[in-house]
Amino acid sequence: MVTASSFEIPDMKPSARAEAFLARPKRLLIGGRWVEAASGKAFPVYNPATGAIIDMVAEGDAEDIDRAVKAARKVFDNPKHPWRTMTPSDRGRLIWRIGDLILQHRDELAELESLDNGKPMAVANGADVPLAADLFHYMAGWATKIQGHTIPISVPYAPGARFHAFTLREPLGVVGQIIPWNFPLLMAAWKLGPLLAAGNCAVLKPAEQTPLTALRLGEILQEAGLPDGVVNIITGFGETAGAALAAHDGVDKVAFTGSTEVGKLIVKAAAGNLKKVTLELGGKSPNIIFKDTPDLAQAIAGAASAIFFNHGQCCCAGSRLFVEKDIYKEVVNGIADAAKAIKLGPGLAADTQMGPLVSEEQLNRVTGFMEAGRREGACVVTGGQRVGQRGYFVAPTVFTEARADMSVVKDEIFGPVVVADSFESTEEILARSNDTPYGLAAGVWTGDIAKAHHLAAQLRAGTVWVNCYNIFDSALPFGGYKQSGWGREMGHEVVEQYTQTKAVCIGL
Ligand code: NAI
Ligand code: MG
Repeated sequence: MVTASSFEIPDMKPSARAEAFLARPKRLLIGGRWVEAASGKAFPVYNPATGAIIDMVAEGDAEDIDRAVKAARKVFDNPKHPWRTMTPSDRGRLIWRIGDLILQHRDELAELESLDNGKPMAVANGADVPLAADLFHYMAGWATKIQGHTIPISVPYAPGARFHAFTLREPLGVVGQIIPWNFPLLMAAWKLGPLLAAGNCAVLKPAEQTPLTALRLGEILQEAGLPDGVVNIITGFGETAGAALAAHDGVDKVAFTGSTEVGKLIVKAAAGNLKKVTLELGGKSPNIIFKDTPDLAQAIAGAASAIFFNHGQCCCAGSRLFVEKDIYKEVVNGIADAAKAIKLGPGLAADTQMGPLVSEEQLNRVTGFMEAGRREGACVVTGGQRVGQRGYFVAPTVFTEARADMSVVKDEIFGPVVVADSFESTEEILARSNDTPYGLAAGVWTGDIAKAHHLAAQLRAGTVWVNCYNIFDSALPFGGYKQSGWGREMGHEVVEQYTQTKAVCIGL
């Protein structure tokens, strides 16, 4: 196992192409022009593998948000604007081009994502970037398939009268989109793809920890031919730029992904003009392994990946592992072995399997949970501490013997930390799995199809994975029950959430 003292982070040099991007000024995209923040301020972007500053980015705040919202409104409120008159087919082709351009710039985007977020470049290249491209390709098809119904109506109080009634699905207008740092480009795609398919305009605020790929995406949107002002990008902090966007009266909807705590602030901020809100929030997802699982090795590997993928910085991370009593020891040992075998390093190193956490704040948060777990009496099977003195690395961690009231069991840690416990019966584990304010995802590993269906029906979660975990697809809706959110990302459901229904009734 790597220990704090033996761990040295090699300095990795970005490619010339990434250096060229970093050397360019990072401004705000408002009305098709790249501009400095009104305040003239900028904030640093860090390499989480070293803690070094790699770039400076314009620090947008309330005034820039206001300008961006006005730029978006100017497009949306003008019925003759090319974006408003574009045919669905042309809109679909434009969105498809965005997907193509993302693939064309795949290596560059993957490198920037890795540098900014810390994730292994192979993961960014194999998952984040192609998934972002696929999302645009998938949504391109929806542009031509957003339609209403004709509705035969009876109108009992108007006997003999005849009407022609139908519904239209129209765009919402200007949407504020606030996204997190765990999958920066992919979250921008999840938000922008359906927004564009339905013909809305956006003000996108990337996370302050990871603004780089959103800015590169802004250039790609321009290259694809998106008219000026349709998508505006304001880099800046949550408490200033994000809060101003959530509260702005010129915004028709806010779509947010991030912490449950900030999700509640968004709801309050939205009350001013009663803008629509969708939220994709935190989780504390149960992952349940039954002794009848057909392939125990696969279940163990799946459970390890459920928590350690993306360094545990996944809203759907399988952070509560429940194992049927007879196989509990074997599974815990297997997960601990998997944890110990993970190669930590900077994202840019080819052999890195797990990079650093995204920021010093997250390092402190995650190590704080580790300390709390230990202090409250949970058993550390492996990990449980920071690794190295430089960068934001932590050891993949397995806790056992934790009580239900401990913070490591109750709260979203958002790091590579799993809490394992055993169970004896299906009904017991269903009750324990659902005993959380969250309801984002759940995993079930069993060879018994009736049991699988029973659990899938009874688990209070927006996604249930059976004999797999972390399976995402542009066509598959994703989102939370309970305090894990409102609405869904992806699939046809998200397209609906970027439109509203208008009923038209014509007297004949
Ligand atoms: P956060 O919820 O503060 O940040 C997410 C986004 O919201 C960022 O763009 C941020 O600038 C913005 N934001 C922050 N405060 C805001 C406000 N008052 N009004 C409007 N926008 C605001 O999350 P943070 O602080 O980065 O991470 C804290 C914890 O949140 C993590 O440890 C994790 O548990 C959870 N989280 C969950 C995510 C998910 O995918 N569900 C993603 C990121 C964080
Ligand atoms: Mg925060």
